[in-house]
Amino acid sequence: MEPGWEPGEPGWEPGEPGEPGEPGWGGPGAALGGRGLLAAAVASGAALWATWAVLLMPGFRRVPLRLQVPYQPSSPRQVANALELLRGRAGKTVDLGSGDGRLVLEAHKQGLRPALGYELNPWLLCLANYRAWKAGYHGSVSFLKKDLWKVNLSDCHNVIVFLAPSVKPPLATKLLAELPDDARVVSGRFPFPCWTPSSSLGQGLEQCWAYDMKEVRREAKSRAQEKSQL
Ligand SMILES: C[S@@+](CC[C@H](N)C(=O)[O-])C[C@H]1O[C@@H](n2cnc3c(N)ncnc32)[C@H](O)[C@@H]1O
Ligand SMILES: *[C@@H]1O[C@H](CO)[C@@H](O)[C@H](O)[C@H]1NC(C)=O
Repeated sequence: MEPGWEPGEPGWEPGEPGEPGEPGWGGPGAALGGRGLLAAAVASGAALWATWAVLLMPGFRRVPLRLQVPYQPSSPRQVANALELLRGRAGKTVDLGSGDGRLVLEAHKQGLRPALGYELNPWLLCLANYRAWKAGYHGSVSFLKKDLWKVNLSDCHNVIVFLAPSVKPPLATKLLAELPDDARVVSGRFPFPCWTPSSSLGQGLEQCWAYDMKEVRREAKSRAQEKSQL
């Protein structure tokens, strides 16, 4: 006989406490307690978070929360208005946060070259590249996985922004610091709060505004002078 096999010997205990069927284990009836509700809340919160993290905002881990703008595609009317405000222009054209690429593709169609988009969401980048390929523009337009707050815009002549109003003030500072004087900025849905547009098109949520950097700078300068004279 091997030692340690006999019932009753040290180490052998019938029915470990905490196993099913023992007092202490709740069974199906106890699942609806506070802990169950908490678990359900945590699970649905986790599902929401996963949707946000995986589908809407992947690739945004390094962007400060206050600068994150979720995807909302522009309508055909908004696209038409934005591009109309760039008619007859030339030079490098960028869409800051290009989504599925609709504005960049239209810009290329209109002869604005090179046309490119910056986007962090890999699903949208994939979709934009697919749409470019389908339109036969593959290789002539580009969609780059770059944070729009970190790209140098000093060689851009046309800039399209369909972004939330909350990021307009920091964006205005960046554009003022980097864009050349002959650049035009087209903003969709929301205007820049402190800039006077050169022109605008459309009504309500379809409205787009065009700003010429030379004018915007002149205005900013004269405002600063007025302030210093007070
Ligand atoms: C309101 S959507 C507009 C999409 C597209 N321009 C359109 O009009 O259909 C804003 C887009 O900007 C992207 N975005 C937000 N913050 C960004 C950042 N820091 N760098 C690059 N893309 C960004 C989002 O992923 C989203 O697709
Ligand atoms: C952007 O690039 C231009 C030209 O290369 C350079 O003069 C400027 O300092 C750069 N700006 C920033 C903010 O890096």
